[in-house]
Amino acid sequence: MTVAEEDTILNHLSLVEEIVRELDHDIRVADTMIQGSEDILKKIRSRPDDDTTVRIRARYNESLEYAREQKQKLLELMSTVQQGKIAAPYNPTTLDLVGIINDAVTICTGMLDDQRIELLLGYDAASTQKMMFQGDQVRARTVLMNIFSNMRRALSGTENPRIRIGIYDLRESQERADTGRIVMSNNGPRLPFDTLEDAFKPYKSGSGSKGLGLAICRDIIEEKFKGRIYTAHPAAGGVAFYIELPLCR
Ligand SMILES: Nc1ncnc2c1ncn2[C@@H]1O[C@H](COP(=O)(O)OP(=O)(O)OP(=O)(O)O)[C@@H](O)[C@H]1O
Ligand SMILES: [Mg+2]
Repeated sequence: MTVAEEDTILNHLSLVEEIVRELDHDIRVADTMIQGSEDILKKIRSRPDDDTTVRIRARYNESLEYAREQKQKLLELMSTVQQGKIAAPYNPTTLDLVGIINDAVTICTGMLDDQRIELLLGYDAASTQKMMFQGDQVRARTVLMNIFSNMRRALSGTENPRIRIGIYDLRESQERADTGRIVMSNNGPRLPFDTLEDAFKPYKSGSGSKGLGLAICRDIIEEKFKGRIYTAHPAAGGVAFYIELPLCR
């Protein structure tokens, strides 16, 4: 990745962070306004309906309504931003599937080492035939980094923690002729949901964090990259994530 590309990513990430912080603050301002108006309305509830009381009541009712509307709008905006829907414009380029994995592995190695997680790469970067797909580097990174950080968290209590990554060129099989498949799996506990699909629903979290990561991953892989992302509980234990991408001809 070039320095300019790196800068674009960092600018984008810090912009999103800044927007979220702003919105968070504005929501709290709206909350204060709501609280204040409600307090005053409560206090004057028992007062006789003279001119002054009627005027004050009208004013604070108006401000209460305004603050509630504002808060609602801000909450919606916040959820849009956090789901990555307000983001840099999507300008797909041709990317190398092995390349994006290597990129994410390079970035995540440090944090995996921290926790002594063994990383097993089940592919040979040099000999794997080029698998190119249409996507964007920043978003590809977002997806892989979320999966890595989820796995790292899930592995915190596991003995001999392990993450395995496989890359499969399905052009060589009859299965799905134009598809490249990434499989990332880890030993560790199963997904804490009733169904595997729940993992991709926004705000579903088994770990006290936001629960948006996999919903964002699905949006990127399926809506933007036109591929498929799903999860499974392998017979051998742990959790596996599958990403399938349509390859360029
Ligand atoms: N490899 C895994 N092993 C076990 N549980 C997992 C694994 N990956 C995800 N999960 C569970 O799925 C939940 C949803 O993950 P997701 O990435 O959508 O959200 P999050 O990590 O909780 O929050 P965010 O990514 O928004 O910070 C996690 O909270 C965790 O409980
Ligand atoms: Mg996550």
